[in-house]
Amino acid sequence: MIDKIKHILEEASNFAAKTQEEAEAYRLKYLSKKGVLNQLFEDFKDLPSDLKKQSGQKLNELKEFLNTKYNDFKTSLESSPEKATKKDLSLPGDQIELGSRHPNSIVRNEINEIFSRIGFTIAEGPEIEDDWHVFSALNFPQEHPARDMQDTFFIAKDPEILLRTHTSSVQVRLMEKTKPPIRSIMPGRVFRNEAISARSHCFFHQVEGLYIDKNVSFADLKQTLLFFAREFFGHETQIRLRPSYFPFTEPSAEMDISCSICKGKGCNICKHSGWLEILGCGMVDPNVLNHCGIDSTIYSGYAFGMGIDRMALLKYQIKDIRILFENDKRFLEQFASTI
Ligand code: PHE
Repeated sequence: MIDKIKHILEEASNFAAKTQEEAEAYRLKYLSKKGVLNQLFEDFKDLPSDLKKQSGQKLNELKEFLNTKYNDFKTSLESSPEKATKKDLSLPGDQIELGSRHPNSIVRNEINEIFSRIGFTIAEGPEIEDDWHVFSALNFPQEHPARDMQDTFFIAKDPEILLRTHTSSVQVRLMEKTKPPIRSIMPGRVFRNEAISARSHCFFHQVEGLYIDKNVSFADLKQTLLFFAREFFGHETQIRLRPSYFPFTEPSAEMDISCSICKGKGCNICKHSGWLEILGCGMVDPNVLNHCGIDSTIYSGYAFGMGIDRMALLKYQIKDIRILFENDKRFLEQFASTI
């Protein structure tokens, strides 16, 4: 019996299976019901008990060896390229899931589209900026708190290079290289060193607008913003302008819209005031025009800026800004849109 086992062990170790058929032949020969191994176990039963002990151990070793070898055949054949080429290429492919637009993109596209209908072009600029384009040209005094480390992300140790805190920097770039009339909006990502919470993030998105020409007045600004608010939030929307301060506009204002959720009656979104603040605006300060090579005795202009994320939160009544940046499919899938 022991000799027989030895012989089979030798024979089986020389067996190589390169195809599924050969592996199957191996299984039939050694491991099937009528195969060599089962036959040995049958013979084993009839052995006298003194021989049983010796052969039993060898027999179990053989069984172990044959099974492991068969499993090795199977795994190597499954991972071999030969198997891959045997795939049925006529089967239909895996379904490709279609993504949906991000709520920020939907809102940005809608804002772009509304302003392009009244003659605004789209301008873009770099996210990594210099002090001149983000602050100095825009009339920020040297000691202005917005330049402070708390608000601005500086690049390495150079205080001249920073991540833009607003897209007004694109206005400066545009004025420097274009002769008026200028009528453009500037969508883009901006960065501020603020604690992340439900209401603010360290990066967010803005659309700013700029109109420079002869005889541009505050009435033009107000009418343009009223048009925008009604197109975006609905035709019954009211606006109100409150005096405010920005270093680069004079006079400056903040604009509220009548709460689109409670229609001005008061709810917890508008904190029961009936109004929601949506943007900052004003007449471009003559200093800014002069800094950018535009003669402020001939030209005047207005500018405005709003947060895209904030508009998306208002439009879709989302309570936490952080969810916009978490890439959670369950959230994003709700915004299927063609715009
Ligand atoms: N740049 C301002 C901000 O980031 C917004 C603004 C733009 C205000 C243009 C007035 C005019 O808050």
